[in-house]
Amino acid sequence: MNWVYLKDLKDHLGEEVIIKGWVYNFRSSGKIAFLQVRDGSDFAQCVADEAKVSAEAWKVAVEMSLESSVEITGNVAKHPKKEEYEIQVADLKFIQRSEEYPIGKKEHGEDFLLTNRHLWLRAPKQWAIQRVRNTVINATYEFLNNEGFIKMDSPILTPTSCEGTTELFEMDYFDLGKAYLSQSGQLYLEAGAMSHGKVFDFGPTFRAEKSKTRRHLTEFWMMDAEMAFFDHAMSLELQEKLISFIVEQVVTKNKKELEILERDPEVLKKIKAPFDRLTYHEAIKKLQDLGSDIKDGEDLGNDDETLIMKDAEKPLFIEKWPAEIKAFYMKREGGLALCADMIAPEGHGEIIGGSQREDDYDEMIKRLKEHNLPIDAFNWYLDLRKYGSVPHAGFGFGLERLTGWMCGVKHVRETIPFPRMINRIYP
Ligand code: 4AD
Ligand code: MG
Repeated sequence: MNWVYLKDLKDHLGEEVIIKGWVYNFRSSGKIAFLQVRDGSDFAQCVADEAKVSAEAWKVAVEMSLESSVEITGNVAKHPKKEEYEIQVADLKFIQRSEEYPIGKKEHGEDFLLTNRHLWLRAPKQWAIQRVRNTVINATYEFLNNEGFIKMDSPILTPTSCEGTTELFEMDYFDLGKAYLSQSGQLYLEAGAMSHGKVFDFGPTFRAEKSKTRRHLTEFWMMDAEMAFFDHAMSLELQEKLISFIVEQVVTKNKKELEILERDPEVLKKIKAPFDRLTYHEAIKKLQDLGSDIKDGEDLGNDDETLIMKDAEKPLFIEKWPAEIKAFYMKREGGLALCADMIAPEGHGEIIGGSQREDDYDEMIKRLKEHNLPIDAFNWYLDLRKYGSVPHAGFGFGLERLTGWMCGVKHVRETIPFPRMINRIYP
């Protein structure tokens, strides 16, 4: 059997092949039927001529319905002008004739599409987004492996919180009291860094905060990286190199996807290290000059993150925040936390949060007390400051925000296969 994928049609010009896929569009002009077929790898038009196929095959063409699965035998031909290949149908069979497909050509509301997410995933734009997401994942692994990182998975069920600030999903854990779904693997990676030097994890994380914005999911994928003997500045350099590499991979590997998404690759090609840096105080000043009513000491809201990137083409690091509004584990320098948020251009908001970690035992005890965190639960974490403590730093990115930025898609709910939000857990 000569079954081929549509992405490989160019290698079979003039040959008879079999393809298997779904008909996502079709029309007929009397004696000729045009079927638009998707097979997962790509898209192609298949043309059936009543005069050239059997009566049975023509009956299939006449009875076609949207999203029917089909097996088609035919000859591969090239479009006279474009780099497109089509199939001249010799035989056509239903694998299964689809019932009336709920997603049609008319405009559907987001709620309807999200309820039908299991089907919506087949739409060209959604197909393209998931493939860009896949490139971002693979590029991350490739970059970090080349930099000498080890992937070390962090637990999802945890006895305590990591950030201490955001709300957590809580559950009863047998006779041991409460357990929580992890909001970041960071603290465990710090232990890993003391064994391997450079480690990362990449997995689902959970936040029960009641944020109903286009940048928030209750379940999302985070990549955390942690590096021993790295300070704050070294961490920022690594972050901008990582993001530049990911963008470059998307631009080279996802040309077709970006075209479907109407995402201008020229915009992405400008994302090259180094990125700009502003201190928190400089950022507040700039925001106030731009007309924001934000006050020194306040966290940046979504609108501020969009405003400060008004004319920016590259991401921006906002670094050295007032320690009071940042997490307990961040190392301090003159009352400021040695941390940075990386803000993406075009209103995609914060994509990375990171910091140098407090590596001094006594300081860490003080921080835990200030934040009213239970010292006992953090004994293991404190041990890392007792047995060969070293300066170390790390960061985490949100996969959905990063993918949304690459795709030029404003709402993160389209960048995860099955989004979980405070008002949605189906399908
Ligand atoms: O800034 P965050 O909260 O940082 C941490 O959790 C650190 N412990 C990471 C580390 O240092 N290893 O989260 C990191 C990133 C954010 O910058 C954002 O991109 C994403 O995770 N993120 C979310 N994405 C979707 N929905 C949410 N509710 C998110 N919350 C954070
Ligand atoms: Mg953050």
